[in-house]
Amino acid sequence: MKKLIAGNWKMSGTIDTAKKLIADIVNGIHEEPDLAEKCDFLVCPPFLHIYAARHAIQTVDTVMLGGQDCFLKDNGAHTGDVSARMLVDSGCKYVILGHSERRGFHNESSVFISRKVKMAHEQGLIAIVCVGETEEDRDEGEQEEVVALQLRESLPDTVTAENTVIAYEPVWAIGTGKTALPQDVKDMHAFIRKQLGRRVDNPEKMKILYGGSMKPENAADLLATPNVDGGLIGGASLKASEFLGIARAA
Ligand code: PGA
Repeated sequence: MKKLIAGNWKMSGTIDTAKKLIADIVNGIHEEPDLAEKCDFLVCPPFLHIYAARHAIQTVDTVMLGGQDCFLKDNGAHTGDVSARMLVDSGCKYVILGHSERRGFHNESSVFISRKVKMAHEQGLIAIVCVGETEEDRDEGEQEEVVALQLRESLPDTVTAENTVIAYEPVWAIGTGKTALPQDVKDMHAFIRKQLGRRVDNPEKMKILYGGSMKPENAADLLATPNVDGGLIGGASLKASEFLGIARAA
């Protein structure tokens, strides 16, 4: 399976830095055609930068675009929200849903997230559904239970191996410089694959990304782990050299 190297730009940068970052990534890929043979590239800029990023590059084929969230309705009186349809209209193919920063700061429950995932599917977007345990969950040895419940409740009945990607992001590894131990990543990804077998006919075809302090120095090991089909990258996706360095490590 081709690796998916996905950048989550979160709430960073300006229109100008977004245009430059995506242009630098596209130029880097054109200079090293090997990278695009091994990996698919996706960046998820802040909503207000998506359109600018799209127009800063010749084609969105080299680097695909995604949103960082969408609402569960496709139109109407929802102040401050952005719909899946709007993301499609802006050139997006993907949307990140259920990131731990949304589960935490915005109190999003898995059941609420599943309604958004369903709307994303209805609009033809591929949903990247994030799951992951907190440090306390892991200390208690409850990581599998927590992730199984998040998967069960966050995935609607529209889920297929083609319209959904899972991102396993241990909450304690996000933005902290700590990464999960290779054995833990291996175990959790195998566990997720098994859980997906209850939901789709061909779980081996669904991509499962690892996220949490991935960088060029640790990417080779993480991306060589069985059932790790790519990365969801925060901090290191804000520099073209690091983002491409992760792809090179794949
Ligand atoms: P990080 O973020 O790479 O900065 O840890 C990953 C994410 O939150 O998706």
